[in-house]
Amino acid sequence: MRKVLIVTGPGGDAQGWGDMKVTETLCETLNAGDLAAEIAYVTTTEEFRKAISSRRFDIVWSALYYISQREDIIGLGDDNEWVADMLDEKGIPYIGPNSLTMKQLIQKYETHRLMHENGVLVPAFNLVAAGGALPEVAYPAFVKPNCESRSIGISDDSVVHNREELARRIRHVHETLEQAALIEEFLPGDEYTVLMLGNGRLQEILPGLVTVDKTHFGKHRVLRSDLRGVGLTKISIPTERAEEAKELTKKATDALKCWDHVRVDMRVDAKGRLRVMEVNGIPGLKPVKSWSPQIYSLYHPSPGGPMEEYRNMVRLIVHSALERHGLV
Ligand SMILES: Nc1ncnc2c1ncn2[C@@H]1O[C@H](COP(=O)(O)OP(=O)(O)OP(=O)(O)O)[C@@H](O)[C@H]1O
Ligand SMILES: [Mg+2]
Repeated sequence: MRKVLIVTGPGGDAQGWGDMKVTETLCETLNAGDLAAEIAYVTTTEEFRKAISSRRFDIVWSALYYISQREDIIGLGDDNEWVADMLDEKGIPYIGPNSLTMKQLIQKYETHRLMHENGVLVPAFNLVAAGGALPEVAYPAFVKPNCESRSIGISDDSVVHNREELARRIRHVHETLEQAALIEEFLPGDEYTVLMLGNGRLQEILPGLVTVDKTHFGKHRVLRSDLRGVGLTKISIPTERAEEAKELTKKATDALKCWDHVRVDMRVDAKGRLRVMEVNGIPGLKPVKSWSPQIYSLYHPSPGGPMEEYRNMVRLIVHSALERHGLV
């Protein structure tokens, strides 16, 4: 029986698939099937190095891009030691995209740059670090932190209509989140999130339409941080643009060399075309609630219900990674 070492720590929710409860459920779910799993909860890089050299396992599944004490935000620094790099150093197989891709995915500007170079439609984009000059952009524009998730730093004020608002919001990102601000073309249309599971012949690309009852929106139809993780977003199988969303996802995930499980967020631009907002390298795995399991359940309902569907999805992710590493 193959054994998975599940790695998490204080940053599991901000960086990864969810909090410790999610990680425990994931571990129990794997243990209930044809795999064995245990959790390494690590708070320092030393603890991580010790865990991977002292424990016995076949593959690592990490909720963390890098080991951090921070629970509130990803809070990337300049001198992070990346989990994937430390695993590569020792030749240890892991689930999910490789080290280079993980570093690109966590930095939205980098992801956009690569996608744009490869002909994948993204919104117009600019990066402004602290002290940087204001770019010339078309309005409305959208300002967000370059390296966060869970809609952290996103509110109605992220939509800016002139240079003054742009400058104010960029400063807000610099001061409150201590990181560069990404300025994008505002995408006013419907929002989609697309699940990519598995690789090669067995890969599945499953689009979901994200909706929120309009009474919850303020000035703009954007997923503000207070609308996330509280059961207000609904996922459904799209009746429009499903093929376009699949093709865009395939192009984006191929260009970025994504493996096993990623989720691609996109929205419709002012001209009616889908554009990729971001590719999530460690998508949420909260049973029933996170978007990946919700999408999987819509496309693959099981007689046993959502927890059985969840089990099938996480096993598929592990097995696709094991197969990729020649471990089956
Ligand atoms: N260019 C844009 N135009 C319009 N809305 C946007 C734009 N970029 C982001 N948004 C809104 O902000 C939300 C969060 O943005 P994004 O998906 O880029 O960041 P995130 O916080 O990393 O998300 P996740 O929680 O999926 O990791 C989106 O779901 C969308 O509603
Ligand atoms: Mg997103």
